[in-house]
Amino acid sequence: MIFAAILAGGIGTRMGNVEKPKQFLFLGSKPIIIHTIEKFCLNNDFNEIIVLCPKQWVNHTEDLISKYINDSHNVKVIEGGNLRNDTIMNAISYIEDNYQLNEKDIIVTHDSVRPFITHRIIEENIKYAIDYGACDTVIPSSDTIVESKDGKFISSVPNRKNMYQGQTPQSFRILKLKELYHEMSDEEKELLTDASKIFSSNNEQVFLVEGEVSNIKITYPHDFRVANSILKER
Ligand code: CTP
Repeated sequence: MIFAAILAGGIGTRMGNVEKPKQFLFLGSKPIIIHTIEKFCLNNDFNEIIVLCPKQWVNHTEDLISKYINDSHNVKVIEGGNLRNDTIMNAISYIEDNYQLNEKDIIVTHDSVRPFITHRIIEENIKYAIDYGACDTVIPSSDTIVESKDGKFISSVPNRKNMYQGQTPQSFRILKLKELYHEMSDEEKELLTDASKIFSSNNEQVFLVEGEVSNIKITYPHDFRVANSILKER
């Protein structure tokens, strides 16, 4: 079985003083989160598409889906968690409560605020998560990446050819993801901002899926302006 988790459990503090979490802001004629959900609904491979948002926004999200999505029979809205990985784990708990899973079943996790995801990226995530157990969507880093351990001086400058910028989706075998996550200490979980790292830090391979420069994450007001320009171009 194949599931999607649209991660919308955040409140968008870096967007500044907006009246609602950024995923609900209008991009053109509909909210950002709707653009994202629509892309997943166009793919017929998903048994269920689970949308996770803050508790107080669950009803609103359900209303938006009934208003904007024509066929939402396999879309379910549930509550997210405090941290992004908690939100992913909430999706897994929901799936386990409702389906009998085996080791091959996969989940495609995607930021609700990356509305320009393409059909190809979704298809390749499904394919490579099935083939390799885990995959992550990335683009080659256009800037040189500089590492600094103290935030004052450079500690290393890795070869740019080996550097990539992480996007989403990140897709995994569900039971393996859960097993690796629960083996981690609470401290490790706190520090872990990236779900692929749950695999890579346990020496599990994570295949690289080619992303798109346009698959941006709307984080700051500037990104929102860029997203509006991308939309107008299309
Ligand atoms: N996310 C989530 N659950 C959380 C935190 C984040 O599902 N507890 C989701 C966000 O809703 C977003 C995606 O993860 O779609 C990427 O996270 P980010 O851009 O950091 O979103 P926010 O946490 O909302 O933003 P900020 O860090 O600025 O508060």
